[in-house]
Amino acid sequence: MSRIYLSAPDVGAREEEMCIAALRSGWVAPLGPMVDAFEEALADRCARRFAVALSSGTAALHLALLELGAGPGKVVIVPTMTFAATANAVVYTGATPVFVDCDLHSGNLDPDLLEDALRSLAREGADIAAVIAVDLLGHCADYGRIDDICESVGIPLLSDAAEALGAAYAGRPAGSFGTAAILSFNGNKVISTSGGGALLTDDERFAERVRYLSTQAKQPMVHYEHTEVGYNYRLSNVLAALGLAQLERLDEMITRRRRWREGYCEIFADVEGVEIFQRDGDSEDNCWLTAILIDPVIARWKPAELAAVLSAADIESRPLWKPMHQQPVFAGARAFLRGNADRLFAAGLALPSGSSLAPTDVERVHTLIRSFLSTPRNCR
Ligand SMILES: Cc1ncc(COP(=O)(O)O)c(C=O)c1O
Repeated sequence: MSRIYLSAPDVGAREEEMCIAALRSGWVAPLGPMVDAFEEALADRCARRFAVALSSGTAALHLALLELGAGPGKVVIVPTMTFAATANAVVYTGATPVFVDCDLHSGNLDPDLLEDALRSLAREGADIAAVIAVDLLGHCADYGRIDDICESVGIPLLSDAAEALGAAYAGRPAGSFGTAAILSFNGNKVISTSGGGALLTDDERFAERVRYLSTQAKQPMVHYEHTEVGYNYRLSNVLAALGLAQLERLDEMITRRRRWREGYCEIFADVEGVEIFQRDGDSEDNCWLTAILIDPVIARWKPAELAAVLSAADIESRPLWKPMHQQPVFAGARAFLRGNADRLFAAGLALPSGSSLAPTDVERVHTLIRSFLSTPRNCR
């Protein structure tokens, strides 16, 4: 029996066909017709005017932040409940991340606490370049409120939709919010280009600047002329072909992820002390990962116990993101906290959710969980 991952890549004949077409076209470079077509398809899917295909979501965050003016002496608001890339990109620019806690139900940036943080920082005279909102596990942040808050104080919003392609908020697609948004096509995401990302915006100048910075900031001259430091962050044409094939299958892949979530809902429906994370209002989620929250006092078991049983059967599971304010690398960073991210980190366990899982894989996971749940336990 092979190992079951949380979210393994889901590629098949169509992906192979598109990559071969790209290779045979001779465009084996970080530019070409597949890159152009992928950008057009992404912009279309995310209801944006422009998309710039890049080598990673982190690269997209980095360039977006530079364009928003992040740099030494500036502050960027970052949700503490996120993957390190969100905060790392702030540090690359020389700016300082200030962490803000999440709402307990969605795990996303708490708008009330964001307001408090902006007020406090303004009083202290902080120079805030941007607010980043993250769409955690494919569940969109509360853009209705966050957009208004950012607008009222005149601070640009950057949407980290790395995990959320295909999700929506009030009928608007993930990636369509903020001055700019970013996507990731890492190997574990809803669609993958093995590694890759994109910057989305409606601002033509913003898109052009990001494109320019991502190609070593070359001036339009015959020789190589540079007036700024640039980056080598473009996506290759072969990988864009992979992305195009994946994008064709996005809805079908989300349907499968949702089906696995429904399965977990059934299994845990009558289990006291366990709830499906983000289940409330998840109809527009892309179900990138399904996680459970465990109250060990009521359930009489801890997340790590189920994780150990799964691991022994070669099945991957993982705690939710360890909050940034708890990370040694960000020790001492300013943070506005209510304890919610800490609670979610302690209680959460993400379960295999990938669209490439076969029904037999899912059955293997279900059988093991059912057997774990039926094991009698003493009060701990
Ligand atoms: C919330 C979040 N932001 C940013 C990234 C970075 O994307 P990438 O791995 O493509 O650099 C990821 C995932 O990896 C992520 O989950």
